Amino acid sequence: MDHFELRNGELHAEDVSLAEIARQVGTPVYVYSRATLVRHAQVFREALSALPKVHIAFAVKSNPNLAVLRLLAKEGYGADVVSEGEMNRALAAGIAAQDIVFSGVGKTRAELKAAVQAGIGQFNLESEEEGAELAEIAAAMGRTAPCALRVNPNVDAGTHAKISTGKAENKFGVAYDRAVDIYARLAALPGLEMRGLAVHIGSQISDLEPSRQAFLKMGELMKALRGRGLAVTHMDLGGGLGVPYKAGEQLPTPADYGAMVAEVAGDWDATLMFEPGRVITGNSGVLVTEVVRVKQGANHPWVIVDAAMNDLARPAMYDAWHDFVAVRPSGESMIANIVGPICESSDTFALTRTIDAVKAGDLAVFRTAGAYGATMANTYNSRALVPEVMVDGDKWALVANRIEPATILAAEQVPEWLDLP
Ligand code: LLP
Repeated sequence: MDHFELRNGELHAEDVSLAEIARQVGTPVYVYSRATLVRHAQVFREALSALPKVHIAFAVKSNPNLAVLRLLAKEGYGADVVSEGEMNRALAAGIAAQDIVFSGVGKTRAELKAAVQAGIGQFNLESEEEGAELAEIAAAMGRTAPCALRVNPNVDAGTHAKISTGKAENKFGVAYDRAVDIYARLAALPGLEMRGLAVHIGSQISDLEPSRQAFLKMGELMKALRGRGLAVTHMDLGGGLGVPYKAGEQLPTPADYGAMVAEVAGDWDATLMFEPGRVITGNSGVLVTEVVRVKQGANHPWVIVDAAMNDLARPAMYDAWHDFVAVRPSGESMIANIVGPICESSDTFALTRTIDAVKAGDLAVFRTAGAYGATMANTYNSRALVPEVMVDGDKWALVANRIEPATILAAEQVPEWLDLP
């Protein structure tokens, strides 16, 4: 459910016309709906309400915009971060340090130090080596770092290979059969407080069974650790729940997910931690674009839009589908290939797709672009960094400026010696 709807024949975000935003800000531009974000945050929380102790840490990577983070902070969300940059964003948004989980397979020494300094609530360790390094850093600072050990359960999430993280061949976590020994060794180190386990098997998960299998395996591990007298008070079950990208597509709902978790983990006597990203932000945003021109093609017309793979990378990277709809649909449709202006063939949003008929100058949106959209944008082909807008009822505001190519050019310099004869 979202708040992007046709009103008087024109697509609106809540009460604001997308055409009006495009007129004032230009295109391409991401537009987020506050009401949709709040609703998703509340629905996810309600889905877990049967569980006694829950901590929800929003996966900042899915949408790190400061206004989005502030909104989620006000909804009582913590944050799951994977870099010092994300940590500082979460803190700047008003999320308390103890509500932040620091994940990530390659946290640097400097990042570990900064996170201990900030008083981060939990480090999700991805290796014994990382744990040893953190122990040394924390002990030297006279601190104790609360930690969970991320385990690779060797379960196939059944999602796109590039966003699957829970198979033995993936780089994440420690091997399942080595986890008990590693946990025991880390628990003996001064500077660390080993308090739990973490798992995350992938993203855009559309079938709950692999997650259920992974959680069952984590429950077994938890019992084995407790059997050895080791404390396990926190179990971080990660994120990954998918969202519908195509109109009418049916996926497990947060309620289905919550029921599955309650069935598997309801009696674990641990704080259950979650790291949802896409399910909160995905359907809360669209990417508004203008059709540059429509060019005749060998099979179908090429609809060339002013958004490109640098603004929305998902189709080029994961062959991802984003619904494309006109802002002022005429009721006519066409079969087309939708592409951006970038000089490579991967800059393709859709092939042989039936879409609203569009012509040069028309506005359209890519839907479900609130997660892994703006955050993955770059400036390839010396294009601008795409701006972001948030709508709230009939109000709207720019929440990230367009960063012009001239600003990026100004950060570059030619060394003097290059101009010497
Ligand atoms: N926790 C951990 C440890 C993660 O690695 C991720 C996502 C999440 C939580 C949040 O997962 P979510 O609930 O959003 O599925 N760029 C890709 C997605 C990459 C996901 C990486 N990790 C895409 O556009 O599909």
